[in-house]
Amino acid sequence: MLTLHSPLDMHVHLRQGDMLSLVAPHTARSFAAAVVMPNLTPPVTTMAQVREYRQAILQAAGRPFTPLMTLFFREYSRAELEEARPHVIGVKLYPAGMTTNSEAGLADMDRAAPTLEIMEDLGLPLLIHGEGCGFVMDREAEFLPVVERWARAFPKLRIVLEHVTTVDGVALLDRCDNVFATVTLHHLLMTLDDVIGGLMRPHLFCKPVAKRPEDRAALREAALNHPKAFFGSDTAPHPVSAKEAPGCAAGIFSAPVALPALTALFEELGALDRLQAFVSDRACAAYAFAPPEREVVLERRAWTVPERFGPVVPYLAGQTLNWKVVG
Ligand code: DOR
Ligand code: ZN
Repeated sequence: MLTLHSPLDMHVHLRQGDMLSLVAPHTARSFAAAVVMPNLTPPVTTMAQVREYRQAILQAAGRPFTPLMTLFFREYSRAELEEARPHVIGVKLYPAGMTTNSEAGLADMDRAAPTLEIMEDLGLPLLIHGEGCGFVMDREAEFLPVVERWARAFPKLRIVLEHVTTVDGVALLDRCDNVFATVTLHHLLMTLDDVIGGLMRPHLFCKPVAKRPEDRAALREAALNHPKAFFGSDTAPHPVSAKEAPGCAAGIFSAPVALPALTALFEELGALDRLQAFVSDRACAAYAFAPPEREVVLERRAWTVPERFGPVVPYLAGQTLNWKVVG
């Protein structure tokens, strides 16, 4: 048995409508709280949308669960951000067109400064999908200078480099005191070889794409030991019709397996004692936030991951995991 205190998933996509009803219970079962991404259609850019979306999530979760809401980055006024501050944990910036529902994202990074200045002043963290528009394997590295520039220009602004995937991304944590990173389960487990090295696996396709073995090694090292790296699954469900298609949607639905598979990985790496820090404590420190109280218990018990949840194929479908969330 393993008891985790207030496990947190600091990066989730819960969607809307029927998909929200299907996936929210999986996140709520394993996590006390989760940071909810705002890339809906239309994106979440007003407080009215934040309130409405939060209510829908609470209803879909079906148990005590805290959605930590975010706004979709645009140019905001001080009045808008002052109103939002008590109700959101941060503002998520997507470069325009980089991933699912990011068309309304920022096209010109130079226009971010006035809003970032207000966020710094209000203590509102910036969450970043850190990819430029160059060659796909280099997009994260290409974007890091922008992150570093902002980190230096706004030294009190807390910046979270979401779903870090590279050696270079991890290295940035040591150069800038105010830069943190989330790490996903799938980027800890796989490399690009798993996605396209043999038969192409659409259910393993996500953005940023999985990288090289040495990148995965750096992510594992950070997950185990870096005080500024913490868990964010980036669970991102798409229906089979959108994944097994000529234009495959990016995203991996990992919520049902996130904690069991993380536990198995940390055990394999001889670091079960560091899981609590990765799935909760470091995130609380980064966000200066006290999590809702909840204990989640995992038992050493084999189970097979279902092939489907409704129209969605989960990560690790059909595989047997040796840890199970039991309470
Ligand atoms: O793979 C991804 N899926 N990466 C993202 O950044 C967005 C996400 C989604 O919303 O489907
Ligand atoms: Zn995401």
